[in-house]
Amino acid sequence: MIADFQEWARGRQECIETSLQSLLPAATIAPERLHGSMRYAVLGGGKRVRPLLAFAAGELSGASEERVTIVAAAVELIHAYSLVHDDLPCMDDDILRRGKPTCHVEYDEATALLVGDSLQSLAFELLTGSQLADTPQVQLNMIKRLAQAAGSRGMAGGQAIDLANVGKTLNLPELEFMHIHKTGALIRAAVMLGAHCGNNLNDGELESLDHFAEHIGLAFQVVDDVLDAEATTATLGKTAGKDAEHNKPTYVSILGVSRARELAEELRHEAYQSLEGFDGTAVRLRQVTDFIIQREF
Ligand code: IPE
Ligand code: IPE
Ligand code: MG
Ligand code: MG
Ligand code: MG
Repeated sequence: MIADFQEWARGRQECIETSLQSLLPAATIAPERLHGSMRYAVLGGGKRVRPLLAFAAGELSGASEERVTIVAAAVELIHAYSLVHDDLPCMDDDILRRGKPTCHVEYDEATALLVGDSLQSLAFELLTGSQLADTPQVQLNMIKRLAQAAGSRGMAGGQAIDLANVGKTLNLPELEFMHIHKTGALIRAAVMLGAHCGNNLNDGELESLDHFAEHIGLAFQVVDDVLDAEATTATLGKTAGKDAEHNKPTYVSILGVSRARELAEELRHEAYQSLEGFDGTAVRLRQVTDFIIQREF
C-alpha cells in the first residue's frame, strides 16, 4: 500500500513539475530576471502536497488528469508565492527554503515581492485559460473559491494574524482561527477545486469533502509547528526552530509537542470519518492524509 502510494505520488509530482515547467514563462523571455526568479521559486522543490490533494480529490469525481493538472498548478503557484513572501525580512526573515537560499536572498527583496505578485496573477490566468469544469458557472465558482482562499479571508488574512501575534499567547480557538486561514484555506481549496473538475459528486458529498479538507488543512499546520520544533534544518530544507526563536504562537508553544501530535491524530481521525460515505475512490485521499500526518519534512 505504501509503495503503491509512493509510486502514485511520484507520478503526480512529475506531472505537476512538467506542467509548471511549461506554464511558467521561460527565463530567456524579458524581463529575464523576474522570469528566472519565478522559476527559481516554483520549480525543483517542495512536497507538492496541494497538487496531490487536488489529484486525489479528482479521483472521487471522475475528473480528467488534464483539468486537475491545471488546477493543481494554479494552487501550487499561489502556495509558492505565499512562501516567497512568508520568507521576506518583513515577515519570517528566513534564508533557507526547499533546501536553497530563499528568493530574496538569491535575488533581492523587490524581486521577491514581484515574484509573489506575478505567481498569483499567473495562477488566475491559468484558471481562465481552458475549460476546467462541466459548466462555466462551476468554473467561475472555482476561481472565486481560490481567490477567497488566497485573500484576506484566507491565507493572507491568516498571515496577518500570525504577524500581529508575535510574542503573544493565543488561546486555542484563536490559534485554530489563525491556522485554518494561513494554511488551511489553500489546502481546502486544493481539495475542492480538484473535485469540481469532475462531475460525480452531489451536494452532500461535496459537504463531506469540504469537512475533510478543513480538518486536514488544520492538521497540516499543526504538524508543521511540530516539525519546526523537532526536525532538523537539513531534513526540513528550511531553518528549524524559527517559531520559538521568533516567539510565534504555535500548537507547540501552547500545547507542547506530544499534545500537538495527539491533536494531529484526532484531526486525522475526524478527516477519515468525513470520507466514510465514499467508496474505494477515496483511497488516495486517505493516503495523502496519512502522509500529511506522518511526514518527517
Ligand atoms: C510550508 O508548506 C508552509 C506552510 C503552509 C506550513 P509545505 O510544507 O507544503 O512546503 P513545501 O511546498 O513542501 O516546500
Ligand atoms: C506559513 O506558515 C504559512 C504560509 C501561508 C506560507 P509558516 O511560516 O509556519 O511556514 P514555514 O514554516 O515558514 O514554511
Ligand atoms: Mg510564517
Ligand atoms: Mg515561515
Ligand atoms: Mg512553520
